[in-house]
Amino acid sequence: MRPDLVGVVTGAASGLGRATAELLLEHGARVAGWDVSGDGLEWLSDRGTTRAAVVDVTDPAQVAAAAEQVRGAWGRVDFLVNSAGVFVLGSLADVEVAEVRRLFDINVTGTTLVTQALLPDLVAARGAVVNLSSTVALKPSVSNAHYAASKAAVAQLTRCWALELAPHGVRVNAVAPGPTSTPLFAAAGMDLATTESFLAQRAATIPLGRTGEPTEVARWITRLIDDEWVTGHVLPVDGGTSIA
Ligand SMILES: NC(=O)c1ccc[n+]([C@@H]2O[C@H](COP(=O)([O-])OP(=O)(O)OC[C@H]3O[C@@H](n4cnc5c(N)ncnc54)[C@H](O)[C@@H]3O)[C@@H](O)[C@H]2O)c1
Repeated sequence: MRPDLVGVVTGAASGLGRATAELLLEHGARVAGWDVSGDGLEWLSDRGTTRAAVVDVTDPAQVAAAAEQVRGAWGRVDFLVNSAGVFVLGSLADVEVAEVRRLFDINVTGTTLVTQALLPDLVAARGAVVNLSSTVALKPSVSNAHYAASKAAVAQLTRCWALELAPHGVRVNAVAPGPTSTPLFAAAGMDLATTESFLAQRAATIPLGRTGEPTEVARWITRLIDDEWVTGHVLPVDGGTSIA
């Protein structure tokens, strides 16, 4: 990876955001980690190459203030990874409207707000955005339709922004992970037994026979930040789920 890149990872307190921030730091990048969970960000504080901020990505004032802090500290933003997100399990018959609104607010509006706030910096740096879509955005599945729809929205935002921002030299890509073992499902209120059975059921449908590890997704996110002639891709990282 090119040395000395500077950027922001949202959802850096946990799961794929944390694994990506760790890998970027190993590659010599400076990383500002944003998350609504302050406790989970402690691992990022007190290091010269890191900054941590408690930010709710749905709150424009918090996002603007955190963007200003990064500018003040490091003066530029080369990359943005939009990993903050939530999952909702529920059929059409049971899903609650408030949950649907919250899901779209975080997964779709949050991704938009953060990217918009950092856009002048990304344009100035001819930088890169990597969004988190999902394999369920590409292939229909039962019991998580609204989550899948929010991730399909992220996939299409990725393609549209890639076209819109290409004249400015800004690349926009997404990864579409398959089921990966992270606290995402616990955060959605699923207990350990339900999560394990959900992931086992999913694993049985994955051609490569297992769920993913956060580092396996993080590797492709860093690759998409670094590759300078790739834009508008929604890359499945899913053990073959999307082609089965
Ligand atoms: N784990 C999977 O199987 C999987 C598969 C496909 C896509 N994804 C996507 O990857 C992304 C990361 O998920 P994960 O698996 O690492 O889950 P995770 O729960 O481990 O991490 C998500 C992080 O986002 C943060 N977050 C939630 N709401 C926020 C808000 N309003 N503002 C700021 N931060 C907020 C959470 O506090 C958490 O730290 C999500 O967008 C998820 O939809 C995950």
